[in-house]
Amino acid sequence: MATILPYTHDNITLAAAALERGDVVAFATETVYGLGALTFREQAIERIYELKGRPLNNPLIAHVLDIQHARSVAIIDGWRPAELAMAFWPGPLTLILPKRPEVPAVATGGLDTIAVRAPKHSLARVLLHAAGMPISAPSANRSGRVSATLASHVAEDFAEADLIVLDGGPSRFGIESTVLDLSSDRAVVRRLGAVGADAIAAVLGTSVEVMPGAGQSTSPGSSEKHYAPRTPASLIRRSDVERETALGPSVVISAGLLPSLAGVDAVVIALPEDPDACAAALYEALRAADRAMKPRILIVEPEGEGVMWDAVRDRLRRAAAG
Ligand code: TXA
Ligand code: MG
Repeated sequence: MATILPYTHDNITLAAAALERGDVVAFATETVYGLGALTFREQAIERIYELKGRPLNNPLIAHVLDIQHARSVAIIDGWRPAELAMAFWPGPLTLILPKRPEVPAVATGGLDTIAVRAPKHSLARVLLHAAGMPISAPSANRSGRVSATLASHVAEDFAEADLIVLDGGPSRFGIESTVLDLSSDRAVVRRLGAVGADAIAAVLGTSVEVMPGAGQSTSPGSSEKHYAPRTPASLIRRSDVERETALGPSVVISAGLLPSLAGVDAVVIALPEDPDACAAALYEALRAADRAMKPRILIVEPEGEGVMWDAVRDRLRRAAAG
């Protein structure tokens, strides 16, 4: 059974010992919860894939304390990773870099690159200190499903597993890190997140391409259908809410004003109108929509502009894909 443990010194020590033994541990980060094992423990890494039901070719992010620490798993050449780490670490930016040959192939889905990120949440940092080694961790959800932003989400998804979940409260950002591919001379955003392409370009002084889901190594994590509730979901325009809800029972997820829904069988889940708050509430809203047990989820596509709205829209499109 998954056990939620509060963020105390003793529980961090317990979790670090579990990692050292080769166990998998779930823990809070500022983006979403992670399901972690020591990067250099091949069997423990295999166990992550098994628990998640994740395809073995979908690589994991190695979590580190800083750029120095990143050198134990990645080859850091040139000034770009150091400048970006200075600007955005610790925080929600993942860098794809050439991998060191010592890193087990299973930790990178067989690729010769590795994704690295220094998380900002103090729980993740204290755990990394206690473990003394990089921790590879995908988001702590079943493969293809909605990520976890609360300890209880992880416990629900892995109810059957013998797993410690370190509770660091609700994830502040609520969506996964921006993934930036630096494995070539180009700089390519492979997944949208809280760190925008413009902010990255300002640090690099060069242009940044944005190609979420594109490229060889992007793997299933950026595939179309992802972050999906169990209930069929579709993305609709605000002006179509009345027509769509009249077609039958549904859950409506919306940030902002809805038309009158009198006389229709609809459960409404409201999202905040502020983009940061909306992102933070997003995955709990998708999970709540599943719990409402209606045959359809209608997601009103938000229209706001800016980095966070772009990232929110990206996740909603994937939740509704397929
Ligand atoms: O915010 C986050 O990044 C969270 C927290 C726990 O740190 N982690 C996370 O991990 O979202 P995951 O495994 O759910 O997503 C990692 C993404 C996937 O799309 C994966 O395909 C991509 O990063 N990725 C990892 N390593 C890669 C590599 N070497 N090359 C290309 N893409 C890679
Ligand atoms: Mg994930």
